[in-house]
Amino acid sequence: MAEVRSIAVIGAGTMGSGIAMNAATSGIDAFQIDVSTEQLDRARAYHRKTFDRGVEKGRMTREDADAAAARIVYDAEMSAAKDADWVVEAASEDIVLKKKIFLQMLEVFGDDVVLATNTSSISITDIAAEVEDQAYRVIGMHFFNPVPVMKLVEVIRGLATSDETVQRTIALAERMGKTPVPANDRAGFVSNRVLMPMINEAFYAWMEGVSEPEHIDEIMKLGCNFPMGPLRLADFIGLDVCRDIMMVLFRELGREKYFPCPLLRQLVAAGHLGNKTGRGVFDYSK
Ligand SMILES: NC(=O)c1ccc[n+]([C@@H]2O[C@H](COP(=O)([O-])OP(=O)(O)OC[C@H]3O[C@@H](n4cnc5c(N)ncnc54)[C@H](O)[C@@H]3O)[C@@H](O)[C@H]2O)c1
Repeated sequence: MAEVRSIAVIGAGTMGSGIAMNAATSGIDAFQIDVSTEQLDRARAYHRKTFDRGVEKGRMTREDADAAAARIVYDAEMSAAKDADWVVEAASEDIVLKKKIFLQMLEVFGDDVVLATNTSSISITDIAAEVEDQAYRVIGMHFFNPVPVMKLVEVIRGLATSDETVQRTIALAERMGKTPVPANDRAGFVSNRVLMPMINEAFYAWMEGVSEPEHIDEIMKLGCNFPMGPLRLADFIGLDVCRDIMMVLFRELGREKYFPCPLLRQLVAAGHLGNKTGRGVFDYSK
């Protein structure tokens, strides 16, 4: 197995920017691709700020931070990353969009490049079907937020994923300092099958006046020993991402209990998406 020297990361949002940064600090060149130049600028600013903070806190030397920053290339065109020997798709949680991107990935990247997706909930088999006889190269490589900090990578094989693709994914995740854990290809896998309905229920508890958001979070932190309450976590993940994941669970598993809470949908409609817009359940503008 040849060592991975460069990774293309498709999407420069919350997750894509974290994956590119994590790759760079692991000594791997990263192509950060996004159709939105605004998002590319935000990712660059986030990387600069995080590297500077790492140096200030003594977690890395200035030299290492500069070397890692220099490993990331930003571009709006996927073709700029054509020489990458790995690709992770981290665009919005929308199956139509992801299928379109996978077809494009097939054209741009070499024949032995693994086509990984960071989807939170969409079936790997379904995405892989789009690339037909190349489905053996498709795998779920599910990082967690914030990527440079969180240790887990959920590894999800689709029906056609080859053993070699799985082994190479495990090797890469370990090289990036992660602990890969397998999960089967069912909507939401393990993490979001369990977490998202709890977050959705917290919105119902708020909507029905069981308690105020601060108190819901405080109760879950102190009572369940969570490091962060479910509503704060929803802001961190992105309320649109939470809504999209619940819709996948609802559609795929066919049970009413997975339908996204009206209050969650209302906040998304108002553009209150959480940390990334400065306001979600809580207000971060001050
Ligand atoms: N937010 C989380 O905590 C979290 C955790 C694990 C996995 N995920 C998954 O990771 C993926 C990305 O989530 P996110 O939170 O980073 O979303 P995000 O909304 O922060 O970013 C998505 C990015 O995709 C870009 N994009 C859209 N179409 C594109 C295209 N055709 N080519 C390139 N880029 C395109 C958008 O411009 C945007 O920058 C989703 O599948 C999500 O379910 C999210």
